[in-house]
Amino acid sequence: MASIINIPLVMGLLSVAPHAVCGHPLASLATSCNRSALVEAADAYIAAQTVGNISLLDQVVARDWQYKENNKNRDARGGVLSKSLGTDHRRTNFDVVACATYSEVIVSDPANPYVIGTQIRHDPTDGLKLEYVLQENWDPIPEGKRDSRDVIKAAGDAHLDMWSNAAAADAVPWGMPCARPEESAYTGKGRPDDSCKTGIPSNHSQAPNTWRRYVIDESMGLVSIFCVWNHMIMAADSHESRLEGGQLRYIHTMPGCGGQRCSL
Ligand SMILES: *[C@@H]1O[C@H](CO)[C@@H](O)[C@H](O)[C@H]1NC(C)=O
Ligand SMILES: *[C@@H]1O[C@H](CO)[C@@H](O)[C@H](O)[C@H]1NC(C)=O
Ligand SMILES: *[C@@H]1O[C@H](CO)[C@@H](O)[C@H](O)[C@H]1NC(C)=O
Repeated sequence: MASIINIPLVMGLLSVAPHAVCGHPLASLATSCNRSALVEAADAYIAAQTVGNISLLDQVVARDWQYKENNKNRDARGGVLSKSLGTDHRRTNFDVVACATYSEVIVSDPANPYVIGTQIRHDPTDGLKLEYVLQENWDPIPEGKRDSRDVIKAAGDAHLDMWSNAAAADAVPWGMPCARPEESAYTGKGRPDDSCKTGIPSNHSQAPNTWRRYVIDESMGLVSIFCVWNHMIMAADSHESRLEGGQLRYIHTMPGCGGQRCSL
């Protein structure tokens, strides 16, 4: 199987972009997804990013791997992946159905802050943000209490549909408390009535968010969606949602606007 790594990232208050690394021939096409290989590629990616040495990734992915940043193909050697960034926080979700991973990486170095989201597909902010992210509970959800793949995906899609569908907001299973870090803003105050409904779109006649690519991890209640945020100057966007008991608890959004500040 080939693999793709797709990374949107936010740098300080400026939104930069996603990159994608690709190409990892795992066993044969007919076999099911090899979880060990997903772990190996995700770990190699983190190791490569930490020291800024792409060779560490070359060892586990195919020679022809593809790389995308902000939804655009580019040479990994000139991208964020070639910078040495101390990774203060790292969390990886595994989707053995899509044979893909989503990793969130936070670099809190004040001189060089980043939040990076990376999808690796095997197949055919800053210090303040770190504090908040680490406050969240991202423990695995006990077996028997997990939502289905379809339920998790539908919640993520409903959230992304709010710009183009007036009924979508009602289809989002808004949970409480719910927190949504976005660039330097954070909707959660650590209170039981924190809501992610704050600031949701009121204009439902905008262009739909397209080119959605999913990584769904039922054991974590998570869906990572990479997409094009069409009306936001075609930003490369990463939306990650966590459901607990069918209710939305966290949303992490990383729009990349090609080095410009994301605004309408
Ligand atoms: C699964 O991947 C691991 C790590 O790449 C590899 O060592 C192992 O042989 C693979 N297993 C199968 C059944 O392909
Ligand atoms: C990058 O990693 C490779 C493989 O481990 C190693 O041979 C090479 O010396 C490293 N390059 C740098 C600049 O550290
Ligand atoms: C809603 O968005 C559409 C598409 O960008 C735009 O044409 C329209 O003027 C907007 N409506 C309002 C009330 O802002």
